[in-house]
Amino acid sequence: MLMSERVNFGSRIGAILAAAGSAVGLGNVWRFPYETGNHGGAAFILVYLGCVFIFGLPIMIAEFTIGRRSKACTGGAYDALAPGTLWKWVGYLGVLTGFLILGYYSVVAGWTLEYIWQALAGGFAGKSSEDYVVMFQDFSQHPFRPLLWLFVILFITHWVVVKGVKDGIEKSSKIMMPLLFILIVLLAACSISLPGSEKGLEFLLKPDFSKVTPDVFLGAMGQAFFSLSLGMGCLSTYASYFGKKTNLGQTAMSVGLIDTFVAVLSGLIIFPAAFSVGIQPDAGPSLIFITLPNVFQQAFAGVPLLAAVCSAAFYVLLALAAITSTISLHEVSTAFLHEKFRFTRSRAAVLVTSGAMLVGVVSSLALGEWSAFRICGLNMFDALDFLTAKIMLPVGGMFAALFVGWIIRKDIVKGEVTNYGTLRAPYYPVYRFILRFVAPVGILLIFVNELGWLG
Ligand code: PFF
Repeated sequence: MLMSERVNFGSRIGAILAAAGSAVGLGNVWRFPYETGNHGGAAFILVYLGCVFIFGLPIMIAEFTIGRRSKACTGGAYDALAPGTLWKWVGYLGVLTGFLILGYYSVVAGWTLEYIWQALAGGFAGKSSEDYVVMFQDFSQHPFRPLLWLFVILFITHWVVVKGVKDGIEKSSKIMMPLLFILIVLLAACSISLPGSEKGLEFLLKPDFSKVTPDVFLGAMGQAFFSLSLGMGCLSTYASYFGKKTNLGQTAMSVGLIDTFVAVLSGLIIFPAAFSVGIQPDAGPSLIFITLPNVFQQAFAGVPLLAAVCSAAFYVLLALAAITSTISLHEVSTAFLHEKFRFTRSRAAVLVTSGAMLVGVVSSLALGEWSAFRICGLNMFDALDFLTAKIMLPVGGMFAALFVGWIIRKDIVKGEVTNYGTLRAPYYPVYRFILRFVAPVGILLIFVNELGWLG
C-alpha cells in the first residue's frame, strides 16, 4: 500500500489497546502457567521478568521504530529501511513465524470455545479431578471436534482482519480488553479464597533457585518473546499504523506492564486452584483445561448455575484474549501478501486463513490420530511450539535489536523515540546500549547455554 493511502489507528489509546490486545492472549493465560509449572514456579517467574525488562521492552521499542519509520508491514519494513540488503530475510522470517504460530495457536483458541460450550451445557457438573483429565484427553484427541472449533476461530479472525485496521482491529480491542481485565481480577480473587490455596501461592512466589537450569533460561526467554508478541514483526506491523504523535517508549511500557500483570494474575488463578484440588502444576498444555472446571465445581458446590456461569465466563475471557492475538498474527501475513504481492486485503486474508487451517489441522491431529509422527521426540504440535517460541522468535528479536542498534541511522533511532525532538526520552542511552550489546549477546548466550557449551 502506498504511504499516503495507509490507515492509522484512530487514537493513542486505540494503538495501545491494539498492541496490548496482541500481546495479551493464550500466552499469558494458558502458556505462562504451564511453562511456570514445568519449570518449577517462582524462580522461573523471576528469570521471566528479567527477560521481559532486559530484552522485551527495548526490543519492543525497536520493533515500533522499524514499523513506524518504514510505514510498511514487517515483510517490507527491513527492505524499506535497508534497501537491497539481506535484512529483508529477517522480515520474511517473521512472516513465516507468525503464520506457523497462527496455525497451532488457533487450535488452542478453539479448545476455549469447546469449554464455553461444555460449561453452558452442564458438561462439568458432578465430575472428579480425574474425570476432567479424561474429558480433556477425549476431546483433544477426537478427530473432528477440535477441528470444528479451529475453523470457527479462523473464520472469526478472518472476518475481523478483512474489516481492516480501524473498524476491525481497533474497535474489537477497545471492547475486549477492558472486559478481560474485570473478569481476570474476579477469578484470581475467587481462586485465592479456595481452601488449601496457600501452597499454590508459595509455589508462585517463593523461588527455589536449585531449579534454575539452562532450560529455565530458554523457556523464560521464549515465553517473554511469545507473550509480548515480539520477534516476528507483529508489533512492528501494528506500529506502521501508529500516528506520528504516539510515544513509542510509553506505549511499550504500557503494553509490557499490562501483559506481565495479566500473566501473573493468571498464575494467581491457576496455581492456588491447582494445589487446592490436587492437580500437578507440571500437567503441561492441558493445565488450565483440567484445573479450572474443577475449581468452579468445588468453589460453587451446590450452586450449579453459578459454577456454570463462572466457568463459561473464564473461557469466554480466554477466547476473547486469544482472538485479539490471532487477529494480530493473521494481520502480519495478510499485510505482507497485500503490500508485497498487491493482492487485495480480502484475497490475501483468504490465502492466509486457508494456509492456517492446514497448519492447524496438522497440529490438532498431532495430539490424537497422528501422535505417532514425531520430530526429535516431539509431536507436531509441540515441535511447532518449540521451534517458533524458543528458536524463531528469539532469533527474530535478536536481529531486530541488531538492526536498530547498528544499521539504522542514529538520528532516526533517537528521532523515533523522541518524536523528532518533541518528547523527552531519558532512557535513550541505556536503550541503545541494550540493543547494540546486551540483547544480542544475552540471547546468544542463552542459546549456547542450552546446548551445554558453557559447561
Ligand atoms: N502474545 C500472544 C499471546 O501471549 O497469546 C501470542 C502472539 C501473538 C505471539 C502475536 C506472537 C505474535 F506475534
